[in-house]
Amino acid sequence: MQKNIKSFEKYKKEYERSIKHPEDFWEGKARNFSWRKRWRNVLSWDFTKPEIKWFEGGKLNITENCLDRHLEKKGNQTAIKWIANDPQEKNINLSYKDLYTQVCKCANVLRKNGVKKGDRICLYMPMVPELAIAVLACARIGAVHSVVFAGFSAKSLSDRINDATCKLLITADGGFRGDKTTPLKEISDEAMKSTPSIERCIVLKRTKSNINMQKNRDFWWHEQMENSNSDCPIEIMDSEDPLFILYTSGSTGKPKGIQHSTAGYMIYTEYSFRNVFQYEDGDIYWCTADIGWITGHSYIVYGPLLAGATTVMFEGTPSYPDAGRFWKIIEENQINIFYTAPTAIRALEAKGMEFVTPYDLSSLKVLGTVGEPINEDAWHWYNKEIGKDNCPIVDTWWQTETGGIMISNLANVTPAKPSFATLPLPGIQPCLVNEKGNELEGNSVEGRLCIKFPWPSIARTIYGDHKRFKETYFSAFHNKYFTGDGCLRDENGMYRITGRVDDVLIVSGHNLGTAEIESAMDEHPNVCETAIVGFPHPIKGNGVYAYVICHNEVANNDLLKKEINDFVAKEVGPIAKADKIQFVNGLPKTRSGKIMRRILRKIAEGNTENIGDTSTLLDPSVVEDIKRSAQ
Ligand code: PRX
Repeated sequence: MQKNIKSFEKYKKEYERSIKHPEDFWEGKARNFSWRKRWRNVLSWDFTKPEIKWFEGGKLNITENCLDRHLEKKGNQTAIKWIANDPQEKNINLSYKDLYTQVCKCANVLRKNGVKKGDRICLYMPMVPELAIAVLACARIGAVHSVVFAGFSAKSLSDRINDATCKLLITADGGFRGDKTTPLKEISDEAMKSTPSIERCIVLKRTKSNINMQKNRDFWWHEQMENSNSDCPIEIMDSEDPLFILYTSGSTGKPKGIQHSTAGYMIYTEYSFRNVFQYEDGDIYWCTADIGWITGHSYIVYGPLLAGATTVMFEGTPSYPDAGRFWKIIEENQINIFYTAPTAIRALEAKGMEFVTPYDLSSLKVLGTVGEPINEDAWHWYNKEIGKDNCPIVDTWWQTETGGIMISNLANVTPAKPSFATLPLPGIQPCLVNEKGNELEGNSVEGRLCIKFPWPSIARTIYGDHKRFKETYFSAFHNKYFTGDGCLRDENGMYRITGRVDDVLIVSGHNLGTAEIESAMDEHPNVCETAIVGFPHPIKGNGVYAYVICHNEVANNDLLKKEINDFVAKEVGPIAKADKIQFVNGLPKTRSGKIMRRILRKIAEGNTENIGDTSTLLDPSVVEDIKRSAQ
């Protein structure tokens, strides 16, 4: 294993080298992996197309690097430690050898079911070891996995399956989360009514619910796995072959299938995992994310396994059976590195210390957060009550599109600053630009966050829509990747993310497109038009605020609000439901018909005094109307 950066001085040197000689720098990292054929060329790129290629000509398989490579020295070490939703249910420890065997068997099942290199496979599963196994099985045979978060609705699932024309769906009879079960197969059946590309569906038994199995289409996971061969030669992949697609929300209603490639993603997730968390051999590492999101892909599955770590996977929720669950798991499993989201920290803080004090958290060495800005209050609580003023908190800024952590302190190595992601990782060249696209030099500046040089795990395209990829990320500012985030750089050159500057809302750490929610609400027969904005929410970070115009007079407001939210749950998923719905007679629009969200945001924030200039509105009186009926 390669050595981690161990001092601030070393970080500065490594950073400087990575900027002056990026190709040499990354080539040095690449040498630590198993390759079937060496690369010809480290990097070629052109952000105007955009086209980015790392380690061209190289041949490899990422699972050989996650699994086979570790068998000799770490075969008996736990690779995945799985903790069930129900505290009474036994945990499962899969050693590297066990995981290797299961992945090979599953990969053979996929091959037997006709899956070939390049085919897209959809995974709609609970947080059980079989999800990680299925992810790796796809990668082993060169199939492209598209994991859809198990909280999404049938409509969201079928849209994602159709967008990527997936051939096979792997799901479960159901999933446990807290005191609820999600009927995953039932939802999948509904989705499969409109997914012509799906030929087969493999179903894992988890909740033992009563489900329908369609002959010649649906097959049980356990029956398929039973006699499957545990020897599965890898598919040899090109460095730039796609590894997976993962959907994320955008500013239009249609989610974007972010596509990542093999070698660059592998090198960067391993490197960032080790250095940010300062992972050392033997550490027990737990990331509480779901594999349905990028954090789960990069820092539950790939990064930790590439580094030969023990990665904990938790099926349940932070508050089940009570708000002490996380802390209990930390004590029982002697967790050393703990990585979670600000929304979970805030929710648990609100429950009070009586859920924390009973547990011994002294195994903890490093804490992390991801997904949204962490407010100073939550930072201090996390630091004092969980870390006991003794564990560095790494505030990791990154995105589905970046594949890995981009800006973060390195635990105990580079300085932390509450609510600041701090400094870029080696190889990452952030810059701030103003609205005109001019780069803001020097410190104490605020602007839009861009990245001006490629890094190995940058997304390569939006599946099936390269034009949208270019427009979304590479057109706003010349020759730069635009993140969609606002950001400031303080007097010491440290970065603080201030939030999205586009129409994406981050709610409880989940990315939601306002347009997606609006079009779901518009499906309600009495809804004429909607506008969604965010408002500050003490636990979720942002709440969803909906302004709704109805066709007909509303008799029962509460009933209609519930119905509208039912549409959102059905079309998008329960996570996108509005926290507040305000019925209005009109929306503030410019003469060209564009909704002035700035005004709606102010009102949603409770700020009805300083609305700003409304003179460019088609009808400024609607603003007064909205203010009067604001909640
Ligand atoms: O706005 C930033 C916010 O989450 C967005 C990316 O969301 P997603 O693609 O779902 O990936 C989330 C997990 C990597 C970013 O554009 N974000 C993420 N991490 C942070 C953050 N905002 C502030 N601080 C962070 N540490």
